[in-house]
Amino acid sequence: MVGARPQFIKLAPVVRAFRDLGIPFRILHTGQHYDPSMSEVHFASLVLEEPHYNLGVGSDTHARQTGRMLEAMEDVLARLKPSCVLVYGDTNSTLAGALCAAKLKIEVGHVEAGVRSFDKRMPEEINRIVADHVSDHHFCPTKNAVDLLRKEGITGILTGDVMYDALLQADLGRAANPCTPPYALATIHRAENTDDNERFAKIWEGIRRVSKTIPVVFPAHPRTRKLHGALLDRACKTISVIDPVDYITMLVMVRDASLVITDSGGVQKEAFLLATPCVTVRDTTEWPETVEAGANILAKAEADALLEAALSMLGRSVETSYNPFGDGRASYAIAAFLKERYT
Ligand code: UD1
Repeated sequence: MVGARPQFIKLAPVVRAFRDLGIPFRILHTGQHYDPSMSEVHFASLVLEEPHYNLGVGSDTHARQTGRMLEAMEDVLARLKPSCVLVYGDTNSTLAGALCAAKLKIEVGHVEAGVRSFDKRMPEEINRIVADHVSDHHFCPTKNAVDLLRKEGITGILTGDVMYDALLQADLGRAANPCTPPYALATIHRAENTDDNERFAKIWEGIRRVSKTIPVVFPAHPRTRKLHGALLDRACKTISVIDPVDYITMLVMVRDASLVITDSGGVQKEAFLLATPCVTVRDTTEWPETVEAGANILAKAEADALLEAALSMLGRSVETSYNPFGDGRASYAIAAFLKERYT
């Protein structure tokens, strides 16, 4: 069950493992992300088959969006009667999928279980906690996630991170980088950074100041574009605002960047795995491993703090010999577990 951009990426290696191990499956897309640049382009670049079901839910308030997903999913799941529903990560689609299946007494597997930011102001944190507590199988990306789940009385299975599998399977030779190095790559889209105009303006000012040292490329998420289009479009020669790019192109852009500035969970990890230093514009991170490795630093949503963090990370080399995200076969570990249990 998927619905938002990062979930299409997590789905791809799992589908490959399912095919290799002969596990029958159906893909259900909630339609949470519907812009071609957020959805179709990823299915195409990840060579994923079309979803078997698309609920076409689209955007709305949290309650309405989640409610519509629940209602539409119930019909499909009641008809399909799968042995298990797999949900991924921490979006509203994850929450709805886990809740709907659990209430129908269908077993639930949570991919990326046990991850916590300990900040309940983030919708993602609420989604993860609920998904973990109604799931039957908890596929943990890191040892830290297993330890955190144990404190909540849940036994996790350490599989490694399917995003690392996806990255290793990506044919980076296939994509040209639309940007010319040196540059910093910035993405900001989370609700806590974009919903408050003043907060976003401070972050944007920080990015503008960084761009005086190194040009910045900013692929704009539709949420950010919708809320702050006027600010993004204001002429600034040192920041290139571009449309969202496909997964492979994004990886190439992260790899070749001198610095990443982001509030995305996935991009923090990708920066680490591709040895690019990262500044995370948030008060907390659900990926402390990247900070402990010296590859990532948290920055407050203030222009000066962001600039200072960026200057401290620029030119820093990232040590990736210790990789907390597994061996690149997380999706096979998940598939093998499911095959053993259900066939
Ligand atoms: C969602 C996830 C977030 C994840 C992100 C990845 C939740 C609560 N948040 O955030 O964890 O990091 O996806 O991208 O599930 N919009 C469009 N077109 C689209 C998608 C979104 O225009 O294809 C705009 C709409 O204005 C919408 C807003 O983005 O109101 C928010 O979309 P939504 O799906 O609620 O959350 P994201 O911010 O994308």
